[in-house]
Amino acid sequence: MALDGSAAIKPDKYGQVHEPALWQHLGEFTALEQEGNAYICRGTKGSAAIVFLSDNVFRAKIFHGEQVDLTTTVAVLPQSGSVNVSVSEEAERVVFRTMSIQVAMDKRDLSLAVEDLNGRLIMQQQPVAWNARGEMHALYAMPEDSHFYGLGEKTSFLDKRGEKYTNWNTDVYAPHVPEIEALYESIPLLIHMVDGRSYGLFLDNPGRSDFDMRSQETLFKIGCSTGAYDLYFIHGPELKDVVKRYTGLTGRMDLPPKWAIGYHQSRYSYMNQQEVLELARTFRAKQIPCDVIYLDIHYMDEYRVFTFDPVRFPDPEGMIEELRGMGIRIVPIVDPGVKKDAKYAAYQEGVRENHFVKKLEGDIFFGEVWPGTSAFPDFTEDRTAEWWGEKHKFYTDLGIQGIWNDMNEPALFNESKTMDLDAMHGNNGKPLTHEELHNIYGMLMSKATYEGLREQLNGQRPFVLTRAGYAGIQRYAAVWTGDNRSFWEHMALAMPMVMNMGLSGIPFAGPDIGGFAHDTSSELLIRWTQMGAFFPYCRNHSAIGTVRQEPWSFGEKAEGILREYIGLRYRFMPHLYNLFHEAAVDGLPVLRPLLLEYPNDPNVVNLCDQFLIGNNLLIAPVYRPDTTHRAVYLPEGTWIDYWTGEAHEGGRHILANAPLAIMPMYVKAGTMLAEGVLKQSADDAAEEKVTLHVYGAQASEGFTATYQLYEDDGVSFAYQAGAHSELAVQVTGGSDSVAIRWSYSDTAGFRVNREQLGFTLQQPGFVPQDVAGLTKMSLESIEAGHEGWAWDDVKRVLHIQVVDRDEGGQLVITV
Ligand code: GLC
Repeated sequence: MALDGSAAIKPDKYGQVHEPALWQHLGEFTALEQEGNAYICRGTKGSAAIVFLSDNVFRAKIFHGEQVDLTTTVAVLPQSGSVNVSVSEEAERVVFRTMSIQVAMDKRDLSLAVEDLNGRLIMQQQPVAWNARGEMHALYAMPEDSHFYGLGEKTSFLDKRGEKYTNWNTDVYAPHVPEIEALYESIPLLIHMVDGRSYGLFLDNPGRSDFDMRSQETLFKIGCSTGAYDLYFIHGPELKDVVKRYTGLTGRMDLPPKWAIGYHQSRYSYMNQQEVLELARTFRAKQIPCDVIYLDIHYMDEYRVFTFDPVRFPDPEGMIEELRGMGIRIVPIVDPGVKKDAKYAAYQEGVRENHFVKKLEGDIFFGEVWPGTSAFPDFTEDRTAEWWGEKHKFYTDLGIQGIWNDMNEPALFNESKTMDLDAMHGNNGKPLTHEELHNIYGMLMSKATYEGLREQLNGQRPFVLTRAGYAGIQRYAAVWTGDNRSFWEHMALAMPMVMNMGLSGIPFAGPDIGGFAHDTSSELLIRWTQMGAFFPYCRNHSAIGTVRQEPWSFGEKAEGILREYIGLRYRFMPHLYNLFHEAAVDGLPVLRPLLLEYPNDPNVVNLCDQFLIGNNLLIAPVYRPDTTHRAVYLPEGTWIDYWTGEAHEGGRHILANAPLAIMPMYVKAGTMLAEGVLKQSADDAAEEKVTLHVYGAQASEGFTATYQLYEDDGVSFAYQAGAHSELAVQVTGGSDSVAIRWSYSDTAGFRVNREQLGFTLQQPGFVPQDVAGLTKMSLESIEAGHEGWAWDDVKRVLHIQVVDRDEGGQLVITV
């Protein structure tokens, strides 16, 4: 008989010990102290620091003891500026007042309530609680008419009411379905909207955090498993204010290079140099615009980062040069795992110079990824981030300007799917476990990459794409939404996902168009590309072993439709770029839920199968098979069908006709769009022309439409030193005329080299009789480049073409 050891009575054999969670609170208020700009509120069992960053944003950080540490993660930008706060102590509360809000701290338990200056309650917190295991949470009032947004990249619909999510960056290859609580990115920002008024709560904690809007009827919960309860309150009341202020806190993107907002083609993997070149030639031969081809893991020598496979890619430099001749750039994938291989330079360096994540005991932490056993750079150390950035000289020396960061959750092939929780990060002298820093690892990798590229590209703008990220990732990278599938459901899911990413500060996002895993179909690819052509980030990518999904994979008819829509993206490039500029300036997303523009319209609180590009172009994709009609909701105003010119009164649903070649699109009357010329790559400057389309102009007093077109060289950082121009266009109606005035400002450092400017009046409420000073001519003459005007009676469009002069100009159209 085998003798049993004590292991026979290991406690876990008898089930879990029931332990009632003992939650502690800060206790009663004892004193208020001021340290610099922080108000330290002392309680009998802990402290809370309140720091006002502006009249509308404050931080409340909780401390278990007396010690106060006001450092932040890198998510939060250094904040400057002083705020006038008046503090008054009342019998039951301490009240902090700014020009916009009033924050009352309850003396019984140090919980917070925020009111506006009219005494209207905005946010009501219950006391922050923690237990002996270091978990912390607080509950917040959830009135009946509550709606929730933000939280970055999550499954399910736009409104997160009734949902529950975890923030723990996770490589989820198994399908993205509603019950998946965590994906690759963690943006712990929750926007709470009640009666059309919004505020945001951002929990700056890069460990695991939880947001529960499901479990209780009148309360929602924000908690974390480790680390600090470091909460930022962001006042609205407009949803746009919350987004602007949140991005003021965590940063905004720099303008991307224009080529990065072109069409991108990828596959896991284009296997060799010939295949890549052939692919590029096919795009050009078929006249399908394309700016980027991606190199997935097979370009590397046995998946060693910073190498090319010598057999499959014998001459990367020659290949890249040839591609550049065709206007196409290469973006290679770079994963964090560095192959354990004594003969491999990056590994040798990493070990010798002490760059890899270690266990506390001093051994390097190893994990399995594509190259087999690998070590992982510790990006929390600035010196390692710099080393990693410098290693990218390998790519930039070859002419590469963009890098694709993947597997940076970090994703590992083990049961937990990631690094051991007790692996240690140096964190610039303040060591923490991986458990405490998990969600920030991927962002720090992209930061290191971005900064390295920026250093090496001699003033050219880098492009970084990432899968994992944390709050603030928008400063360094575009984000794609990971391994979706060629499911119609996943096409539909991409809309709310990218909308919420936009509300969470990430304007440059998009899914794998056509779907990554599983086999796409002709129809799905068509519908998805129609939609994807308007997504801020636009890449077709598919997995190894799936059917091909390059634009020509399904015959000529499909190819024709795809060419048309990809082309449409390029024609809309001036407008798209303008919106990217807006995102860079004030953080507003390019792709917007209708809610952002119409926060008081109850029909749009959870509307997420149609979206706006900017504030006036409404896109209503078809996202079901064999479907040629769909309901479209048009908010207030008049909306003009982009394809037919038909005008519809808004504030109601219409049934749109959508045969396979048509994705319903509407432009709001009284607004404008800027269109450029169709190019095969975004930074092709051979021919420049911009046409400003005015929708639904009226020859009556009170009609106005305006547009500001921002332009710069699209590739360098010279714009930050003033090398850009703004074209301001104003269209005004008179009693029987319409005037167009335009002028340039800021042209000292930059002016697009173009000869002509076009204007069209789409569906004006009149038939034009004359355009003062210009000759009436045929449409053909306009197309041939002459200055003049033409009226298309069939389509009801007035075309005007003038010489584009620095001093601007003015035109009067009489009816
Ligand atoms: C991951 C990425 C996917 C990539 C693959 C191979 O699954 O999400 O985009 O193609 O790895 O590198």
